[in-house]
Amino acid sequence: MKTSKTSRICCWALLLCVVGAAPACSQGESAPKTAATIAVPAELQAGEGKFAANCSACHGKGGVGTSQGPPLVHKIYEPNHHGDPAFQRAAANGVKAHHWEFGNMPKIDAVTPEDVDQIIKYVRWLQKQAGIF
Ligand code: HEC
Repeated sequence: MKTSKTSRICCWALLLCVVGAAPACSQGESAPKTAATIAVPAELQAGEGKFAANCSACHGKGGVGTSQGPPLVHKIYEPNHHGDPAFQRAAANGVKAHHWEFGNMPKIDAVTPEDVDQIIKYVRWLQKQAGIF
């Protein structure tokens, strides 16, 4: 049981390697690597799930924004401008509209500070993939 699961994971890793290596081999223009085209690392998937459940209705799948809220994958939310405590404050207290015209963000009662920690790690990863910092 254990070995077959392990070997399946190996297959996936191998497949990802092959897929990932392909653009590097081809001469033509390859699509820019964005968060949408790169698999979310296993250790960030809990944060991804919590973001999807609690934040993406407004901030968009992958943090790209919606008509209800701004993108978090954006220069103004990089760590030096909105550090991790700003994320904790946003979830715990809500946010008064100040950067955008979407209105206020309500506080999000469904998430704990630990949940938000995981969400932050996921959002920082998205920002990094997008070359924001
Ligand atoms: C109901 C819509 C909505 C939901 C759900 C929501 N947000 Fe927001 N969020 C907003 C809006 C709108 C703003 C922009 C306010 C402004 O600056 O004008 C915002 C701003 C923010 C900011 C910037 C705070 C600052 O200091 O400027 C952070 C960080 C943030 N949201 C994180 C989150 C996280 C994490 C979640 C999920 C736990 C979440 N949001 C869920 C609507 C939402």
